[in-house]
Order: sequence, then C-alpha cells, then structure tokens
Amino acid sequence: MAGKTMLVNLLKGFNKPTTISKYVGPCVSQFQNQPCDNPSRHYSSQNRLVTMIPGDGIGPEISVAVKQIFSAAGVPIDWEDVDVTPVKGPDGMFRLPPKIFESMERTKVGLKGPLATPIGKGHQSLNLALRKAFSLYANVRPCKSIEGYETPYKNVDIVTIRENTEGEYSGIEHVIVDGVVQSIKLITENASMRVAEYAFKYARDNQRNTVTAVHKANIMRMSDGLFLKCCRDVAAKNKDIKFSEMYLDTVCLNLVQDPGSFDVLVMPNLYGDILSDLCAGLIGGLGVTPSGNIGEEGALFESVHGTAPDIAGQNKANPTALLLSAVMMLRYMELTSFADRIETAAFSVIREGQHLTGDLGGQSTCSAFTDEICRKVQAS
Ligand SMILES: NC(=O)c1ccc[n+]([C@@H]2O[C@H](COP(=O)([O-])OP(=O)(O)OC[C@H]3O[C@@H](n4cnc5c(N)ncnc54)[C@H](O)[C@@H]3O)[C@@H](O)[C@H]2O)c1
Repeated sequence: MAGKTMLVNLLKGFNKPTTISKYVGPCVSQFQNQPCDNPSRHYSSQNRLVTMIPGDGIGPEISVAVKQIFSAAGVPIDWEDVDVTPVKGPDGMFRLPPKIFESMERTKVGLKGPLATPIGKGHQSLNLALRKAFSLYANVRPCKSIEGYETPYKNVDIVTIRENTEGEYSGIEHVIVDGVVQSIKLITENASMRVAEYAFKYARDNQRNTVTAVHKANIMRMSDGLFLKCCRDVAAKNKDIKFSEMYLDTVCLNLVQDPGSFDVLVMPNLYGDILSDLCAGLIGGLGVTPSGNIGEEGALFESVHGTAPDIAGQNKANPTALLLSAVMMLRYMELTSFADRIETAAFSVIREGQHLTGDLGGQSTCSAFTDEICRKVQAS
C-alpha cells in the first residue's frame, strides 16, 4: 500500500506543470534564500545573460574556445560561469550547489561542458539531477553529416527528440524477493503529449517534413501504447507535418541501411538514449554532435561526450560538440544570424582539414582550431 501511495505521488509530480523551484530538493532549498556570489554584478544592458557550466576534464578548455569564438563573432551575450561541484547536505548526500539554481532562475538558458560522474555512495548523477531540477523534458540531438569528416554514411540529417524525464529512467526499482527485481517504466500522458508537441513544433520551426514516433507498442501495449496514442493525437492537430510510426527494431535496421530516409524521430527515454548515440555514430561520434535539453521554463545545451581525462589540460580537445551546442542555443535564443555565421565558419575549418584536432584525424591543437574559426568568423 505504501508503495502504491508513493507511486501515486510520483505520478502526480510527473503530471504537474513544473517550475525550477519546485524541483529543488529539500537539501538544496535551504540555501535558496542565500544571496548569490555577487548580486550587484552589472552586465551590459543590451546583452543577454547565459549560464555557463564549464564542467570537468576538458570542459574548461572547450568552454574557453566557445567564449573566444562568440567574442570574435560579437554575440550579444554575457556569460555567468557556475561551478556545479556538489555540496554535501545535512543528510550526508551530495547535491547540486544552490548557485546553479540561482543562475538558471535568472538566465533561463545555459551551456554545459562534460561533468565527471563521481564514483561512490552518496552522489547522484549530476547530469540527471540537472535534467530533473529544471524539468528539461526534451533532449534534442541534430545529427548531420559533416563535409570533410568522412564516415561510411553520407547525407545523414536526422534529429532525435528523446523524452527526458520518465520512461525506463524514472528510477523506480525494487527487490520483490531475493533474486527478483522490478524496474518500472513510467509513461504519462502529460509527458508524452509535451514531447510530441515539441517534436512537431521543432519540425515546423526547422523546416523539417516528417516526424516518426519510435515505439514497441506491439509488446508494451499500455506504456508505449499511450506514448504512441499521444503522438497520433498531436499529429492529427499538426497535419502540415507528415507523421509516421515505426517499431524500434525496424528503425535500427533501417538507420544503418539507409539513414538518409529519416527526418525527425520522437521516442521514450531509453530508446532515445540509445538511438541518439547511434545517430551520432553515423556522423562521426560524440565529439561532433551537439545537444539541447529543452524545458518548460528554460533550456540547457551541452556537449554529450565525456570529460576525456586522457587528454585533459593538453590542448588536444575538440571543441566542436560544445560549439555546435552553443549554436543550437543561439537559435533557441533567436540570435540566428550569429548562429549561422559561427556554424558556417566551424564547418568550413573542418572541410578545409588544415587545423583538425587528433580525434578528427589531424594534428592541430584546440587553440589553433579555435583561432582559425575566429579568423573566419571575423572575416564573414
Ligand atoms: N555529458 C556528460 O557530462 C558525460 C558524458 C559521458 C561521460 N561523462 C563522464 O566523463 C568521464 C570520462 O568518460 P569516458 O572516458 O567514458 O568518455 P569520454 O567521452 O570522456 O572519452 C572517450 C574518448 O573520447 C575522447 N574524447 C571525448 N571527447 C573528446 C573531445 N571533445 N575531443 C577530443 N577527444 C574527445 C577521449 O579522449 C577518449 O579517448 C566519466 O567520469 C564519465 O562519467 C560525462
């Protein structure tokens, strides 16, 4: 009975519209009324403020690269750097520091480098915590073939839109009896509708033709069945965008045979986690793939690769994924002309192949690659 009550409460939470402050756990909320580090800091009134989480490992190097390129392009934003090193709460658990909540409340938009997942008890995944804290319900990953960086696939131009808050990643797991565990896949109408609606809006705003719902409703009739029904309902109200539905296994088969046949894919959490990495692999990997997490009250854009501890501090990192995530962020902020200039410059440096970092097959440094993009941005 207690378990059932807990699940009902969880479901209520999942179905409620959210605000950032509602998601701040008890361990963090006690800090909420503390003043921020420097509340009297003034920013240029014309510039918009953006939260920057440089992250760990190569994070600081690639964040500096992005800032340099933005500065060369004259992008009208100011950065507010925030360190998300976890703080220990009274219950002994480590949590996100209050500064990140204060900053995102102010800015509503952020850019994040990779975070090392601490190993050991008492830590929550910081990436997961950020997604939950800001109710970032849709993960968007555009995967487009990059000219000059050859992979076995050409003409890939796919966008994966992953439901980011529930499904198999709801974290509801328990032992039934010794040797038998249960993990609950939670699907709600609210979360499915909002991600489906976002997928159609994204398709329209980005001149895409087709949204495909990826599912296994033939097996998981209730959970994937509900997700699919929501996608169908939203499709019926958005007839200017084509809609198709496909089984997950068929999508996997067709993706590796003919990725050019796909456009926008929308799917529950676990399928999205796997398919978004598969699609990144089609265009050259996580080092060149941008990503954005869209919420009801803000958005956080991030590189999806890890902290690369093997090359951290050696000026060898490739900043492309974070830069292209920042370009997505500029489009989200409707600073499209700056986004276009920066993206064109980055792709042209990769196409010319003279200043590539090691992961792209070159011998250049992060700073030489960055300088070349700056040079092209300034000349454009
Ligand atoms: N989104 C995130 O914050 C995120 C994602 C994945 C892993 N991680 C964390 O990162 C740490 C290391 O994870 P990992 O080693 O499994 O994966 P990783 O992505 O850090 O590294 C895998 C390989 O890719 C290379 N690489 C990654 N990004 C690169 C870049 N921008 N430029 C050049 N080379 C790059 C690395 O040098 C390494 O050889 C772990 O603590 C993990 O938890 C964080």
